[in-house]
Amino acid sequence: EWTPASFVHETVASLKQQIGNRKVIMALSGGVDSTVAATLIHKAIGKNLFGIFVDNGLLRKDEFQQVLDTYNTIGLNVTGVDAREHFYTKLAGKSNPEEKRKIIGGTFIEVFDREAHKIEGVELLGQGTIYPDVIESVSVHGPSVTIKSHHNVGGLPDTMKLELVEPLRYLFKDEVRRVGAELGIPADLLNRHPFPGPGLAIRILGEVTEEKVDLLQRADAIFINGLKEHGLYDKVWQAGAILLPVQSVGVMGDERTYEFTLALRAVTSVDGMTADWAHLPYEFLAHISNEIINKVRGINRVVYDISSKPPATIEWE
Ligand code: XMP
Repeated sequence: EWTPASFVHETVASLKQQIGNRKVIMALSGGVDSTVAATLIHKAIGKNLFGIFVDNGLLRKDEFQQVLDTYNTIGLNVTGVDAREHFYTKLAGKSNPEEKRKIIGGTFIEVFDREAHKIEGVELLGQGTIYPDVIESVSVHGPSVTIKSHHNVGGLPDTMKLELVEPLRYLFKDEVRRVGAELGIPADLLNRHPFPGPGLAIRILGEVTEEKVDLLQRADAIFINGLKEHGLYDKVWQAGAILLPVQSVGVMGDERTYEFTLALRAVTSVDGMTADWAHLPYEFLAHISNEIINKVRGINRVVYDISSKPPATIEWE
């Protein structure tokens, strides 16, 4: 019978067998899969696992530091890399969604590959691949931190020639969460909503700038924290705010404003393939809208997305 405890026991033993005293490098994202996979590998080989967590400047507010703190608590050997400026520079002037995705994927590989070269004698690459990624039926995009060959335009980076270590290859998401709980990973990390690899870049319609990221981070944090405070976070599958390239007229005191519009998106779903807009209480939406408009200068209008998938997608880009 499959139990999280027996899975941990057997997997750690076979990881020790596979890896021996060789070094493993791994990209971490703060997501469930990469964290659980890394914790298993760490349990097997300790400091010979070298985790890399890249701040691409497109994460949620304060997320980089919070996730690094969690990794420290778990005891993982992780290097945080601040690559924000690098990503912003590459994204400057780009507004096509697919082009933005390609730039982010390519820049990530570049940064990761550079970090990999700083560690001498790495032979293996850890990945948080889970069964649905293997059969490619659930997630159309794959996990945010799986380094897929289609991300590479022109030649394989050196890290892709490494031997793969994929301890979650035969697990489904709920099993990954149970294994994570067995390993003592904090529940708030295990129960996090999915978050796309390109991050806030695909929630800023059009060109991404540092200023827009800052605006969206502050508005998004009010929404997400509000969901948690009102006991709604665990009732939705995914939620976030989207910064629209639309400015409209408003009034503040006796001043006329001309600022951005923010859309709130929250959905219920089983696997992300289809989704319904979440019927959040009007009182909650009113409260969040007030908070955002009062606290985030630069946004003077908030709308709620009531489209389901299909035909709409969860993300706006
Ligand atoms: P859509 O917008 O296609 O999103 O309904 C379905 C799920 O996939 C996530 N998503 C992505 N994840 N890279 C990712 O790692 C991407 O480019 C990407 N685009 C969408 C989205 O957040 C949702 O969970």
